[in-house]
This record gives sequence, C-alpha cells and structure tokens, in this order.
Amino acid sequence: MNTIIKTTAATIIAASAFLGMNANAGIEAKCKACHDFGTANKVGPGLKGIMGHKAGATSFGKYSKSLKNGGWVWDEANMRLWLGNSKKAIKELTGDPKAKTTMPPMKLKGEKLDQVIEFLNGLK
Ligand code: HEC
Repeated sequence: MNTIIKTTAATIIAASAFLGMNANAGIEAKCKACHDFGTANKVGPGLKGIMGHKAGATSFGKYSKSLKNGGWVWDEANMRLWLGNSKKAIKELTGDPKAKTTMPPMKLKGEKLDQVIEFLNGLK
C-alpha cells in the first residue's frame, strides 16, 4: 500500500514537472536539442542570424549535399516551408525530387509556427 502511494506521488510530481516545463518553455525549446541559438554547431548548425542568411552557409561541417548546394536565402516563406516539413521542403527549395536533408520534419503550423518564426527573427 505504502509503495503504491509513494509511486503514485512520484508519478504525479514527475508529470507536473513535465507539464510545467512545457507550459513555460517556448516551442523553440524543440530546436534546442539539436541547435545552438548562437553560432556553435551541435547536431545541426547554430541559428544566430539565420533569417536573411544564405542556406547551408554557416561554419557547420555536416550539411547534407542538398542543403549545402541549396543557394536560397532563408526568408520567411522558405522558413515556414522548412519548419512545416523539412523533408518535403528540401525537394521544393532545391527543385530536385530526390533531395534529402538530415533534419527531421518539425510539423509546425499555425500559432506554433508563428512563434518560432518570431523567435528566429529575434536571433540577431
Ligand atoms: C533532431 C535534430 C534537429 C532538430 C530537433 C531541429 N533541427 Fe534544424 N537542423 C538539423 C540538422 C541536422 C540540420 C542540417 C540539415 C542538412 O544539412 O540537411 C538542420 C538545419 C536547420 C536549418 C538550416 C540552417 C542553414 O544553415 O541553412 C534551419 C533554419 C533549422 N535547422 C531550423 C530549426 C528549427 C527552427 C528547429 C526547431 C523548430 C529545428 N531546426 C529543429 C537538426 C535538427
């Protein structure tokens, strides 16, 4: 009985910590697992100044061929496409139906997408 109560309490505490964290952190916390918001390279390139920047052109050494040779500039329309579904976006942005990217699709849309765009605009 005691064990059950303890386990339940621990679960509730863990669950509320998790929910609290999600409510406070912006959606951009999703990017943080792979991206630094300065210029450091992690799993992906640092995102400082990425809006208005040429694609595939930071000091990141592990770009996919498609992104590296992309040549487009990250304007808001391109970025919305990318953060909706990078796997589809890379094909549209390169015009190559076989183009591939190593970034998984983020599936952002609506308010969440707006929030991340606003956040990226502020990374100057
Ligand atoms: C699981 C890891 C991962 C997550 C999560 C992730 N990314 Fe990426 N991202 C990458 C990788 C890897 C690349 C390089 C892709 C390539 O070379 O094809 C990349 C590339 C990018 C680029 C292109 C940068 C350039 O120099 O052209 C942008 C912009 C970007 N990510 C934004 C985001 C944002 C915003 C989020 C959060 C909503 C996010 N990413 C979440 C791994 C991730």
